[in-house]
Amino acid sequence: MTAAFTLAHLSDPHLPPLPAARLRDLAGKRALGYLNWTRNRHKYHRREVLDALVADMKAQQPDHIAVTGDLVNLALEAEFAPARTWLESVGTPQNVTVIPGNHDAYVRGTRHRFAGTFEKYLRGDAGADGATFPFVRRRGPLALVGVSSAVPTAPLMATGRLGRAQLDALDGHLAQLSTDEAFRVLLVHHPLHSDSRIKRLTDAKALRAVLKARGVDLILHGHDHIHSTMWFEGADRRIPAIGVPSASALAHRHYPAAAYNLFSIARDGNQWRCVQTVRGIDADFRVQQIKQVALT
Ligand SMILES: [Fe+2]
Ligand SMILES: [Fe+2]
Repeated sequence: MTAAFTLAHLSDPHLPPLPAARLRDLAGKRALGYLNWTRNRHKYHRREVLDALVADMKAQQPDHIAVTGDLVNLALEAEFAPARTWLESVGTPQNVTVIPGNHDAYVRGTRHRFAGTFEKYLRGDAGADGATFPFVRRRGPLALVGVSSAVPTAPLMATGRLGRAQLDALDGHLAQLSTDEAFRVLLVHHPLHSDSRIKRLTDAKALRAVLKARGVDLILHGHDHIHSTMWFEGADRRIPAIGVPSASALAHRHYPAAAYNLFSIARDGNQWRCVQTVRGIDADFRVQQIKQVALT
């Protein structure tokens, strides 16, 4: 067996605190989001939780870190600079890959702000100027394929959408990678299956069809803020899809406390071995191993 490569995955930091908003920024969808934050969310998304989780993750010395969106909350202009400072504290563009979530493209006015702010963290190896989705980044034995499901939506909606152009480009990238011996990881903010009409990926069925035809080895997502393992049909074997809680969350209602995953990936003969380790925060803000599972 080859030496293992370790990929860490965290998601949905919803970076606290929310900066003071100007009244004119709070029209439409943001007004409801602002109320929701000031009444509820600020109680559950805590910077000290996020800092403890990231410190523990860094102590594990992963080879690469994937962050699957919802870095900010209302996509206010004033949220992006602190978000970039935070991401720079997590790691360099060489060691960290991000994709946007629906909160990063909360309203039309700032929907492209995320890709501009984090361009170096989501630029594909092909080196095209600017940020384009999907992108492919090779790191060790991995091919990280990032897509954007982040689109502005109507108030109270948190749906995502890839669109035909992105799906077609994804199909092309995966066709190219199929002749390669890379461990293919798809990064997508929204899960590929949801029972919630207002939170789902609206073209999930089309994405699942691409994955069934081309295959990947692992899917990482956020958005639901819960521990999740689902399996989807791939080209020649089933694909595990793993979701994580928000990286800044205190346990509340049906949402678990902040956690992240480590994936230990190694080549064994002509197949991949992938072991998932879940580490999460306890009531005293200490991070502990919750479980370890061999996915393949
Ligand atoms: Fe989120
Ligand atoms: Fe989300």
